[in-house]
Amino acid sequence: MKTKWIKDDISFSYCMEADLKEIASMLSKESVCKYMFFGPNKEEDTMAYFSPLVKSIEDSLKDGRTPDCHVFTIREKSSGEFIGQCALLPIEFTNGNYLIGYQIDDTQWKKGYGTAACDFLVHYAFNVIGAFRLTGDCVRDNSGSERVMIKSGFMPEGRQRKYWSVGERYFDRILFSLLKEDVPESRLKELNDIYS
Ligand SMILES: CC(C)(COP(=O)(O)OP(=O)(O)OC[C@H]1O[C@@H](n2cnc3c(N)ncnc32)[C@H](O)[C@@H]1OP(=O)(O)O)[C@@H](O)C(=O)NCCC(=O)NCCS
Repeated sequence: MKTKWIKDDISFSYCMEADLKEIASMLSKESVCKYMFFGPNKEEDTMAYFSPLVKSIEDSLKDGRTPDCHVFTIREKSSGEFIGQCALLPIEFTNGNYLIGYQIDDTQWKKGYGTAACDFLVHYAFNVIGAFRLTGDCVRDNSGSERVMIKSGFMPEGRQRKYWSVGERYFDRILFSLLKEDVPESRLKELNDIYS
């Protein structure tokens, strides 16, 4: 079973126990969590959230099944250096529609990794697990995340007002989507050729 996908010097692998310290370190940073509705988190909180997900991935792989939990760690292939993580989270009450997520560590910003992560999720969703739609969202003002989704072909879908609350503050949610039929067959094939 394939557990690692490579593009140039970037590798995407199912998230494992050994990745959690670096993920926790990334998610403890104000810079990384500035535009997210969770975090910064203490190490034990990140561990508590991810440990069951990792266990479910590891159990599936042991049984030779494709994991139901689509959480990936991104590393530089040659050095193994940690870059970040990305994920597809199933949307409730439907099959084949996933919310995309990506966090790149602040030491690695603006090197193309966010866009590479989003492109990988497009490949995994449409070429590997048969999704029909990807949903993207971000807090208003998260221009980096908006740009990543636009570069990966997502279409703006609107704005939900005062969607997230953190302390006394409220944040609008900007919505994006990508339907499988929005992606040209040639692009899906190109992604398949890169990652297979
Ligand atoms: C948002 C994030 C994923 C961008 O990742 P990245 O690796 O820096 O993105 P890329 O290098 O692929 O850049 C993609 C584009 O966004 C632009 N960009 C990146 N960060 C930006 C920022 N803070 N402000 C404006 N534009 C930004 C880049 O210049 C590039 O545009 P270009 O190709 O037109 O020059 C990264 O900053 C991050 O993980 N932030 C913290 C977590 C987060 O907000 N996740 C998203 C939650 S919805």
